[in-house]
Order: sequence, then structure tokens, then C-alpha cells
Amino acid sequence: MEIKFLNTSHNYKGINKHDLVYALKEVNLSINDKDEFVAICGKTGSGKTTLVQHINGILLPTEGNVDVMGSVLTPKKRKNPKLLPIRKRVGFVFQFPEYQLFEETVLKDIEFAPLNFGFKKVEARARALEAAHLVGLDKKLLNKSPFNLSGGQMRKAAIAGILAYNPDVLVLDEPTRGLDPKGSDDVMDLFYKIHTKMHKSIILISHSMDNVYKYANRVIVMNDGKVAYDGDKYTLFKSGLYKEYHLEKPDVLKAVDYLNDTLHLNIDYDVHTLEELMTRLKEVYHE
Ligand SMILES: Nc1ncnc2c1ncn2[C@@H]1O[C@H](COP(=O)(O)OP(=O)(O)OP(=O)(O)O)[C@@H](O)[C@H]1O
Ligand SMILES: [Mg+2]
Repeated sequence: MEIKFLNTSHNYKGINKHDLVYALKEVNLSINDKDEFVAICGKTGSGKTTLVQHINGILLPTEGNVDVMGSVLTPKKRKNPKLLPIRKRVGFVFQFPEYQLFEETVLKDIEFAPLNFGFKKVEARARALEAAHLVGLDKKLLNKSPFNLSGGQMRKAAIAGILAYNPDVLVLDEPTRGLDPKGSDDVMDLFYKIHTKMHKSIILISHSMDNVYKYANRVIVMNDGKVAYDGDKYTLFKSGLYKEYHLEKPDVLKAVDYLNDTLHLNIDYDVHTLEELMTRLKEVYHE
């Protein structure tokens, strides 16, 4: 099954009712619901959040359609399918977690979605506790109000709330924003594990090219509401195209360039982290 954008456009009303902001312009894209780890990149205001919010009907297209695994979302004036079944299949972690939390306690918040999607109370509770543990949320926080948490803790609670009902596809809008470096690595490793072990597709919006290069197997670059690039990460960074879209080169590739230049080596861009680069260097010097 696939998520397909079919000539999808979206415009927001400006301050003046007659002014329209064209945030998406005739986008055509297809993403499989299994085994894809897609990074969506692009400078601020390029349309990334607008794009992904069409995947579970937070936004409806103003023109064109979005086919979400067989349920076709169309402009508002037409008849649309029920959103609840779509939302059960597509878990969405918002760019700003405070928009996602609203219950009295963190635990109630995490079990809200499983209850809403029909899990029995006991099972919803068990799933919520397991998800809180998976994201590394301290047990002591579970009975607090979500609004008394730090930004990073809120984000973990929001992520746990999604993992608790086990959706097929995860859409993550800058999920590491506000997390410290260790928290960020832990959460990204968790998503990666979910992707590799359970074959779920992950759609990740990120400004961190280090994370994009480490985890993604496909990169989509948005520019001015359009898909400017859709392909593999090697070509994007090797060709120099990334500069046109105001993206930064991942640190590991900067290090590869430096080593190749200064030590006249010939290391390829097929290393994704500094650890992999170190291993490659050891191989080079033991050859
Ligand atoms: N609710 C809204 N009302 C009016 N215009 C909006 C609204 N939300 C977004 N826009 C506009 O639509 C365009 C795309 O915004 P969007 O939030 O999708 O960008 P983004 O790529 O996610 O940016 P960022 O990296 O800053 O999160 C921008 O020009 C933005 O100003
Ligand atoms: Mg955004």
C-alpha cells in the first residue's frame, strides 16, 4: 500500500482573505507504507509541515488528492472518508509537542490514543507504560501534568503517545527538536529500530543533515512548495545539489572531504557516521 500525492496543492488564506499563500504546488509523490525511511528536508517555510499534514487529514488539499493507503482525501467541499481509521494507521508527532498534549496527567495523555482507537482500558494502560519506558520517560513523571514537563520531556511523552497504539507509518515533524544530544540519539535509534525490525515506514522532517545521512534511505527536498529533489542521499551531497536548497553538508562528509584533500585518500561517501569513518580509516591504514 502507498501514500500518494496526486497533483496536490494547498493554499492558506493570508491576513487579507483574498491573499492566498501557496504552500504546496502540484506535488506528485508516492511513498510505500513499508520499509521506507524518507527524510523531508528544505529551508524554513518550504512546505514540509504542510506536506505531511495531508497524510492523516490534519489538512485537506485545496486542489488534487492524497491517497492514504486506499483512502482518498480530496478538497473540503467534496465527500471525504472518515479520518479515524487513517489516523490509526498513520501516527503523527507534531513539530510542537504542546499541541499534542492536553490531558490531566502524562500517563492519561499517553493512553488517550489507544483508548480512542478501541483498545480495552487494561491493554491501553499496559501499552502506555511500555511506550513510556521505550522512550525513556522517567516513571516519576507519569502522574504529573504534561504542562509541567520540560520541552524535551513533553516531546518524549508525545512520541510515547504515538508508539502506544502501534501505527503502520510514523510521520515525525522534527522529532528531536528540544532534546539534548543523548535524548536525540536515543529517540532516533528507537525510530530506526522500529523501521528495521517492524518494517514500518518512517517519514521524518529534519533540519539535521547528520541524522538524515545516518538514517534515511530516501531524501525529498521541498523548495517553495514543490518537490525539488527526490532520490538517494549520496547523489544529493555528491553532486553539490544540496547547496541550491540551502542544506548543510553532514559532518561525516565534511570530514571525508577534509581527509581526502589533506591526506590524498579516496574515501567514498558510503560512510554515514563518524564511527563508520573511523573504521574505514583503520582499514585504509592496515591495507
Ligand atoms: N496556518 C497558516 N496560515 C497561513 N500561512 C501558513 C500557515 N502555515 C504555514 N503557512 C505558510 O506556508 C508556507 C509553508 O509553511 P510550512 O510550515 O509548511 O513550512 P516548513 O517547511 O514546515 O517550515 P519550518 O522548517 O519552519 O517548519 C510558509 O510560507 C508559511 O508561512
Ligand atoms: Mg515545519
